[in-house]
Amino acid sequence: EGGGWGDHSPEVGEADQKTAFDARRVRANALRLMSLDAALLAIDRRCGSGAVITDLDVRETHAHDESETTPVVPEAVIRATRTEDVSAILAACHEHRIAITPRSGGTGRVGGAVPVPGGLVLALEGMDRIVAIEPDDLRVIVEPGVVLRDLHTSVEAEGLFYAPDPNSLESCRLGGNLACNAGGPRAFKYGVTRNWVLGLEAVTADGTVLEVGKPTAKGVTGYDLAGLVVGSEGTLAVVTRATLRLVPKPEEVATLLVFLPSQAALGDAITACLRRRVVPRCLEFLDALALDILRPKAGLSVPNDARAMLLIEVDGDADEIPRQVERVGEAMLSAGALDVLLARSEHESASLWAARRDMSHAMRRQARHKLSEDVVVPRTRIGALLDRCRALSDEHGVRVATYGHAGDGNLHVNLLWDDPDDRPKVEAAIVGLMRATVQLGGTLSGEHGVGVLKAPYLALEQSPALIDLQERIKGVFDPRGILNPGKIFPAGAKRFHGAC
Ligand code: LAC
Ligand code: ZN
Repeated sequence: EGGGWGDHSPEVGEADQKTAFDARRVRANALRLMSLDAALLAIDRRCGSGAVITDLDVRETHAHDESETTPVVPEAVIRATRTEDVSAILAACHEHRIAITPRSGGTGRVGGAVPVPGGLVLALEGMDRIVAIEPDDLRVIVEPGVVLRDLHTSVEAEGLFYAPDPNSLESCRLGGNLACNAGGPRAFKYGVTRNWVLGLEAVTADGTVLEVGKPTAKGVTGYDLAGLVVGSEGTLAVVTRATLRLVPKPEEVATLLVFLPSQAALGDAITACLRRRVVPRCLEFLDALALDILRPKAGLSVPNDARAMLLIEVDGDADEIPRQVERVGEAMLSAGALDVLLARSEHESASLWAARRDMSHAMRRQARHKLSEDVVVPRTRIGALLDRCRALSDEHGVRVATYGHAGDGNLHVNLLWDDPDDRPKVEAAIVGLMRATVQLGGTLSGEHGVGVLKAPYLALEQSPALIDLQERIKGVFDPRGILNPGKIFPAGAKRFHGAC
């Protein structure tokens, strides 16, 4: 034997070459299957019956997330219910070099939970306990399978508040929120998931269980590994328990609707609000198409000349709310708003939010194909970003609709098309969007992460040295590359260049 896969030695005929090649492939496949069997056996022994699931229907439901990533059916789904199980499962995968993709709710938007190289899926939804709510320490301890709605409901029943909600709180789970550092509308005032994490119990790829971060309100010993694990998209460690920060629940919330005559008024509206010393907890933007989608669902009557809408919320003590509402109203009118309306009841605001929460799915129904981006720029440049979106749409002949968390400068830019032959145009528009975002001082993803879908574009934002450093960090946590492989870092030919 000898030489690489592509060797062409003149002494050996083509037929012999092919036989040798086939034989090597059969052997490699057999070895892979033996390792897989050995890993599954070890997992079965350690975790007990029922942990390893090979039924096709279960495997198929763990083949995809909520993105356009091509589904891949795993060889088996492993259900974990305890930290010891997660540790044993990862140790077996590490030993036998089997790829394993962690998953909690599977609601991600970039393919993070899709097992792209095959292998196993580690299903964490069975670890769904709210272990303790500690009101006087303003913290809660949760497992990764907790559905976000359950966390909100439980802490709010105690008069406490956990702000992050990526708009999918009915179905997303904490494990994915932590993996992607989920944001959502309330990040404007309250920050993103990372800002709510005190400490984590996390298991690295070889099964080592670590306590990272601090369960206390403060703590500066050592590196901030909790900060690193949060947002690492399940590539560094699997979180098995999280201690999260809480605050007292705001006494009251007011919801406002603002209609703008053009998108150009958006940047001024945000600045005007902040200059009046109001930080709304949400400042959501919808362009004309998104508004058309929302209007019937929310039962809205919209002024004829409205070309954009804002959904704004302020919160705080009951006696502060009227003053905040007044200031927001003044700010919006000074920025040229056509109308500012205050939701009259919880029911009214709930139906608005229900329609807003469904926006991403509703947008998908607008065309046969959709790709959505999740770019962020400094909030003062959001008007410029919207101009670039329109220019790219005209230049490439692709329908573009935008909505998102304008208060954070974070826009969901949706590219919609019907004819599969239009795909290259869409690709060109996306690269144009990414470049424009970076030029405006922004970043390619505000909350959905890189996963599979954004990996080809990473080098448009980050320098080779920065990507290399992160890949070496990955190697420290996961030397054999078994944990959620194929995510974040661009591989192969489909890679766009252009970072500083
Ligand atoms: C939203 C999700 C898609 O904001 O991030 O609706
Ligand atoms: Zn969002």
